[in-house]
Amino acid sequence: MKVLGISGSMRRKGNTAILVQKVLEDVAEKSDSIATEYISLADYEIGPCIACMKCKEEKTCVLTNDTWDRVAEKMLDCDVLVIGTPVYYYDVCGQLKNFIDRTYSMYHDRKLTGKYVVTIAIQAEKGADRALETLEGFANTHEFSFIGEIEGHAAEEGEILRDSKALKEAEKIAAKIAALG
Ligand SMILES: Cc1cc2nc3c(=O)[nH]c(=O)nc-3n(C[C@H](O)[C@H](O)[C@H](O)COP(=O)(O)O)c2cc1C
Repeated sequence: MKVLGISGSMRRKGNTAILVQKVLEDVAEKSDSIATEYISLADYEIGPCIACMKCKEEKTCVLTNDTWDRVAEKMLDCDVLVIGTPVYYYDVCGQLKNFIDRTYSMYHDRKLTGKYVVTIAIQAEKGADRALETLEGFANTHEFSFIGEIEGHAAEEGEILRDSKALKEAEKIAAKIAALG
């Protein structure tokens, strides 16, 4: 079984990166048979979906001017997706929204259906509930099986390490993932 963690934040060492990786580390601690991989969308170029609708026929995204296909490949290969975002204007951040929109190319033949998902949103003050709803919309549309969600509270880089509730939740969710393997 493979668990892929994706941070949508452009901060490579930010709070979302830390919390997504914490889930993966806890999974690795609890299970020898589960492989984990972490990626940051800060290392990829993901342009917006241009609504060309060619993916309806091609069953794949026809845009070739960025590195979306490298992320897509990893996602198709995983069994569990742990997807996290910083909250921007009460919602997911732009890079992650581009990522979500590009998965339309995987929708037509339900390429993601049946995979498991964990959703994470980190706010400084407000809006994580709405960001988690956006992630729920992504997960429900693709018919993922939902494992759980984490709402983190942090502003400065690394502050999430002081959010004991979120860290505890990460551990609980990791135990659920480990139980799948
Ligand atoms: C453009 C921008 C918009 C933001 N909007 C919100 C917001 O609506 N609500 C909030 O609580 N925090 C907001 N924040 C703060 C971030 O969500 C917070 O700093 C978070 O910890 C960043 O996570 P990261 O370190 O993973 O990037 C915003 C930050 C930026 C840069």
